[in-house]
Amino acid sequence: MLPGTASLKQTGGRELAGIVFDADTIAARVRALGREITAAYPDGELLVLGLLKGSFIFLSDLVRRIERPLQVDFLVAASYGADTVSSGEVRLLYDPETTLRGKHILLVEDIVDTGKTLNRMVTLLRRRDPRSLDICALLHKHVAEHLELEPVFVGFDAPRSFLVGYGLDHAENFRHLPYIASLT
Ligand code: IMP
Ligand code: MG
Repeated sequence: MLPGTASLKQTGGRELAGIVFDADTIAARVRALGREITAAYPDGELLVLGLLKGSFIFLSDLVRRIERPLQVDFLVAASYGADTVSSGEVRLLYDPETTLRGKHILLVEDIVDTGKTLNRMVTLLRRRDPRSLDICALLHKHVAEHLELEPVFVGFDAPRSFLVGYGLDHAENFRHLPYIASLT
């Protein structure tokens, strides 16, 4: 059993198969992303918009590596139930209070799989008249048939297996793991 995991009963019967990205590897990549993002926005107001819940750990580490003024807000989009296959349905559960008009918007996502969640979000956010809209994804599976907007900032190209940890869940389990692992 890998560190930080509980008994099988507590994890819906799924076990971790192996670590795919360890904590040090993630930290180094997040530092580099912070430098890239800092350089990419020399002026203007920057709003970092995290897609909950999956991006919560990534976003909190990432914003501490961006060395320019910014604001943080969140969106909740639910597409997966307790399943590991996307239902394709995306529900928007919360809209940020913050005005998006005239600001650089950086949408932060945990993982791009089918791209349905992001496509829906991009369509909604574009209507709010931002100065710019770009995506930062921790993981990219490169399996999406059509992306409205290709992520400009990507942490890692991901294997096609189902991944958990560092914010990513399976049926709400495993989000707290400090590393990213695959499931059996
Ligand atoms: P998409 O709409 O199919 O791109 O799915 C995006 C969302 O599905 C992500 O924000 C995750 O919450 C979830 N997801 C997709 N692949 C994985 C995975 O391998 N592990 C955990 N969650 C995933
Ligand atoms: Mg999820």
